[in-house]
Amino acid sequence: MTQRDTWWKTAVVYQIYPRSFADANGDGLGDLAGITSRAAYLQALGVDAVWLSPFYPSALADGGYDVDDYRDVDPRIGSLADFDAMTATLHAAGLKVIVDIVPNHSSNRHRWFQEALAAGPGSAARERYIFRDGKGPHGDEPPTDWRAAFGGSTWTRVPDGQWYFHLFAPEQPDWNWDHPDVHQEFLDTIRFWSDRGVDGFRIDVAHALAKDLTEPLPTAAELAHIPAGPGHPFYDRDEVDAIYREWRQVFDQYDPPRCAVGEAWVDDPQRRGRYARPDLLGQAFNFDLLRANFAAAEFHDSVTQNLAVARQSGSSSTWVLSNHDVVRHASRYGLPLAPRGDGAFPPPTLRRDTAWLLTGGTNPPEDTALGLRRAKAATQFILGLPGSAYVYQGEELGLREVAALDAADRQDPTFFRSEGTDVGRDGCRVPLPWTDHGPGLGFGEATPHLPQPEWFKDYAVTREEADPAAPLAFYRQALHLRRDLLHSVTDEDFTWLDAPAGVLAYARGAWQVWTNFGETPADLPDGQILLASGPVGKTLPGATTVLLSAA
Ligand code: GLC
Repeated sequence: MTQRDTWWKTAVVYQIYPRSFADANGDGLGDLAGITSRAAYLQALGVDAVWLSPFYPSALADGGYDVDDYRDVDPRIGSLADFDAMTATLHAAGLKVIVDIVPNHSSNRHRWFQEALAAGPGSAARERYIFRDGKGPHGDEPPTDWRAAFGGSTWTRVPDGQWYFHLFAPEQPDWNWDHPDVHQEFLDTIRFWSDRGVDGFRIDVAHALAKDLTEPLPTAAELAHIPAGPGHPFYDRDEVDAIYREWRQVFDQYDPPRCAVGEAWVDDPQRRGRYARPDLLGQAFNFDLLRANFAAAEFHDSVTQNLAVARQSGSSSTWVLSNHDVVRHASRYGLPLAPRGDGAFPPPTLRRDTAWLLTGGTNPPEDTALGLRRAKAATQFILGLPGSAYVYQGEELGLREVAALDAADRQDPTFFRSEGTDVGRDGCRVPLPWTDHGPGLGFGEATPHLPQPEWFKDYAVTREEADPAAPLAFYRQALHLRRDLLHSVTDEDFTWLDAPAGVLAYARGAWQVWTNFGETPADLPDGQILLASGPVGKTLPGATTVLLSAA
């Protein structure tokens, strides 16, 4: 295995949410041509790869995670020719391309779901999904009382009386992974995109594909006490391994082998390590820092535990602070510390119930300056760690969550299915500000599909490019220094250093990273400061990270 084959083990991957990145055709929705037009920006930023959230044909019941056709492009986002042009441009700029595969469910507009509806109960077409008769004398009660991830039942009834299963929205019927056609559909899909030159895949809800829904099924109350794992009807069953082993054989037929990273919200890091084994996906998201407070002990535990799991599974760890499903970390860190995660998703720090929402802000109010300082410090901390790191579009600008959006503008099914009690994830999906004036702040000519607040202009790329003290300049320096660092160390080079309470410090060869998670300034060792996330003097102020070259 050469670096050419294992680039992903230490890569920084920039997540693009295509509808909200850049709109080249002026219809208010971001598109592939918009991404192509920003290749130079991504190259200058210093990331190694981009991961695109779904851009496939979709009714957008769940922002595109309801896929009508896995092997095409939504006409509003572009065409397959646009995809090829984008891939060629990104490759020429030295950037790899990762696409999102959504194998737990299709959309209710997928040709096979439409066929299943038309074919009726007992038909072969229904076997590709999970259809059941209802309970009660007339079959008008759902097979179980389980709640779906976005609220409401996991079962929806169709006109002929049967019910189908969906872990997410009713527009996202779950596949039956016991069916050979389903296996074939996804093998065809990963070949299709690999043949088009895609370098890797992000696997949505990777831990839920294998299911055992044979009777008797537990009640919702019983289900809540069954840990994810072999005994759970759908989360993290052992049988998912066989699916990814089959995919790995396809990935490895390409040169270089295609990489994959699983989105597996599995609490037990040991179990999560399975997905990352070299004979399965190769890597799995570690979301511990998404759930953690900006607190030394929580970061220390997460790093120690995840580096150990990565070593055991023969992979490398991943570090993520923000993505399209959670409150942006610049906002999260400006809110009071939450009690340590209770294992539920979303964890307490990320819950956006309506009490959280105030016009123009959040309740409790956000300390935006502190949030940004901590966000930069945390980012610099993770960028020095062994493994790969993810940057979510806009975090390089220091963007905050858009807490205040009118109900009429919201799109996330979480908002609708919870009847407005959870405002959902639209606040981190508002189109990027490229300029500080003009239509859509440079996003595109038309009104953006989610409205940008007035304060977005303060975070505009053009403004930050002109300001050496802006977050963008800091990200560029941090990412370029990381590349230098990787020339001199391997993933094995990592040692915790002694540090005062509230401070974490680690060494990678001759380099050291020091982060003060507290508020009291801490002493720094001698050495040359290569980059600091905020002003530093002789001591390290609170909410600040420095990268040192040891004396
Ligand atoms: C994943 C995606 C999320 C989506 C869900 C259902 O968690 O990240 O955005 O809503 O899967 O596909």
